[in-house]
Amino acid sequence: MSQMLFTCSLIATLIVNIRMIRYANYHNNFNYQIMWADDLIKVYDAGDTVEMALDQTSGSGFVSKNSYYYGNVEMKLKLVPGNSAGVVTAFYMSGKGDTHSELDFEFLGNKSGEPYQLQTNIYGRGVGGREQRVYLWFDPAAKYHSYSFLWNDHQVVFKVDSVPVRVLRKTEETAFMYPNQPMQVFSSIWDGSSWATRGGLDKIDWSQAPFITSCRKFELDACQDDSNILTTPNFSSECQAQLQSHWWGSTAATTLNSHERRKYKYVQENLLVYNYCTDTLRYPTIPPECLITPW
Ligand SMILES: *[C@@H]1O[C@H](CO)[C@@H](O)[C@H](O)[C@H]1NC(C)=O
Ligand SMILES: *[C@@H]1O[C@H](CO)[C@@H](O)[C@H](O)[C@H]1NC(C)=O
Repeated sequence: MSQMLFTCSLIATLIVNIRMIRYANYHNNFNYQIMWADDLIKVYDAGDTVEMALDQTSGSGFVSKNSYYYGNVEMKLKLVPGNSAGVVTAFYMSGKGDTHSELDFEFLGNKSGEPYQLQTNIYGRGVGGREQRVYLWFDPAAKYHSYSFLWNDHQVVFKVDSVPVRVLRKTEETAFMYPNQPMQVFSSIWDGSSWATRGGLDKIDWSQAPFITSCRKFELDACQDDSNILTTPNFSSECQAQLQSHWWGSTAATTLNSHERRKYKYVQENLLVYNYCTDTLRYPTIPPECLITPW
């Protein structure tokens, strides 16, 4: 079976490197693989649910086998409940190399009853340091909620349950940092005691270990680079031709609609805890992308 699939995927690679795909399971077509700590990753329901654990020996994580260029990448997460101070769960997309692109969701745990912070970050040409942090409007450890990256030729939108919490519009001014290479999809859990909770004041309480985050709905509705050619800048032209037939590449997805704009504003005005754009100690000169409106 695996031999056959392997052969098929090789043939597919020879015929066409790029294709539109839609998966929503850990296993489909060998979609994901364990990145580190096999014994701390558990796969249930034939690949519909994956648990990642952190204990004193190690964190753990998994990664998509393929890379994607444009699409909607989504995962449902139920975070570590109770005392999760110092624990960081990440869901992110990243390319390879010194000038890599990266889009991050990082969930910063907290003591029991205290709120999680959701940190987002964007790396362009290998440079990050663009953190924003928001409080969520729900307890992310009580139930599964959806987190997604929409990425097309016009904008990158980070969404939480369909609410945009961060937008990067592609313009001449932001081109220098706009994701411009195929990226893999990752999820991991690790020890962030040195910085995550109240700036590192609240460390992990190992008596509560293992810390477990549960993942579902591994939605990869995207343009897939089967060949893993990571350097060709125009490799997505075949996908480009088909973009309009996918909601995330259609005209409607080139900017936020009025409903999304209202929600985005609500988050920015009420839930934003930190924004590198206004951190003049770190950035005495406002970074250029901070001057670009989100629509
Ligand atoms: C943790 O809880 C404290 C107290 O409510 C809060 O100030 C902080 O923003 C919370 N989140 C993190 C990640 O420190
Ligand atoms: C990429 O595609 C654009 C539009 O088709 C073209 O103008 C440009 O020269 C191409 N770049 C490379 C490196 O092939």
